[in-house]
Amino acid sequence: MNVYDSARMADILSPLGYSLTSTPDQADMAILNTCHIREKASEKTFSELGRLRNTRRKKEAAGGGDMLIAVAGCVAQAEGAEIIKRAPYVSMVFGPQSYHKLPEMLAEVSRGSGKVLDTDFPVEPKFDFLPADAIDKNLSAFLTVQEGCDKFCAFCVVPYTRGAEFSRSTPEIIDEAKRMIDAGTREITLLGQNVNAYHGLDGDGTSRNLTDLIYKLSEIAGLERLRYMTSHPLEMTEDLCQAHRDVDVLMPYLHLPVQAGSDKILEAMNRRHTGDQYRGIIEKLRSYRPDLALSGDFIVGFPGETEQDFEDTMQLIRDVKYSQAYSFKYSPRPGTPAAALEGQMVPEDVKTERLARLQALLNEQQIEFNRSFEGKTMPVLLERAGKREGQLIGRSPYMQSVYVQSPPHRIGRIAEVTIDEGNANSLRGILKSSSTENAA
Ligand code: 5AD
Ligand code: SF4
Repeated sequence: MNVYDSARMADILSPLGYSLTSTPDQADMAILNTCHIREKASEKTFSELGRLRNTRRKKEAAGGGDMLIAVAGCVAQAEGAEIIKRAPYVSMVFGPQSYHKLPEMLAEVSRGSGKVLDTDFPVEPKFDFLPADAIDKNLSAFLTVQEGCDKFCAFCVVPYTRGAEFSRSTPEIIDEAKRMIDAGTREITLLGQNVNAYHGLDGDGTSRNLTDLIYKLSEIAGLERLRYMTSHPLEMTEDLCQAHRDVDVLMPYLHLPVQAGSDKILEAMNRRHTGDQYRGIIEKLRSYRPDLALSGDFIVGFPGETEQDFEDTMQLIRDVKYSQAYSFKYSPRPGTPAAALEGQMVPEDVKTERLARLQALLNEQQIEFNRSFEGKTMPVLLERAGKREGQLIGRSPYMQSVYVQSPPHRIGRIAEVTIDEGNANSLRGILKSSSTENAA
């Protein structure tokens, strides 16, 4: 979502004469869009800010003029005034819900009225204030449909930094999707911190859920592929599971984090389901869509996690079989309930060792998944040129990167590719010659 937000900031600033630079040393303004989800991500803010200050000094010394430095995103939201105190060379600090006010904030800074700090959760949603052409125009593009979260998992800062759940209206989303498709987008990923909790209003005032939205979007001519992330298991309703069978454009890939496999830890995390309930949801999804590829998020070393609890997570991974996954050591976040469980913290070396075991298992599953496509043919959306001469990189229905040899004019097409090699992080294949010309 930070990628989506950063691009929208660039769109908002474009009428004021700003455009993106390829390196920070050319910039008249640098906006650091930050993440607060884990301590490591958060710490990066201050080291990156130090680097930006040096870049600014060099630029000024070389006669390149001033550089305004701003901090956006969830670290800005959580640590607002502290940032200005620790890094007084920063001019603007604003949270993820107020970047639509960038032009006003800039005007305030240029009037010389001091630093701008905006970490409010405004009543009016920022989406109402974005310019009409502020859309993702990539071949495979993002569309934010929902933001914030009311789930309050015990480890997570999102409900505090992104705020309460908010869903954009259905017509607004359909309209944005249509504009994206007109601009060349063929694959849309619907974004939300809790995307399957989507409940936006339709034009006539009825409330629509994610399944309704998926059906409506699937009717738009020109939309070839649809995905959504990130989902919570509790919101995988029957109708949403069925949509994976019935909606052609909905891709057979789902990111459905479980975080842990032990019922005791799941309860302590306030996830509000058990390991078996999660297994049941996966079983149901696969009964509707047998080839569904699954991805997840895992946290190791949550306070109180024993070796047996960890083994329960490993067993759940063995049972589900993931095509891809993200895994992290538990990181205490200020203000979250889990951070108060001081007496139960798992030692760092235990976390490191458990994470290594967990990642080894996930990697094994990922390679096995990728290898299972060797000799098979699948439709690949050719997205961009690769590093090698004559190489294109595309995306499979299951989210794998696929490398093929092909002339560049095929970028933007969905081509049939026969896979000859499945590697740890990608597939390699050859274009089926008969399919490439009719896939315009
Ligand atoms: N420590 C470690 N990982 C975390 N995540 C969220 N909060 C924490 C934390 N405090 C992970 C979860 C979530 C993903 C986006 O980041 O796995 O799904
Ligand atoms: Fe955080 Fe996701 Fe839990 Fe919401 S559902 S609190 S975003 S981990």
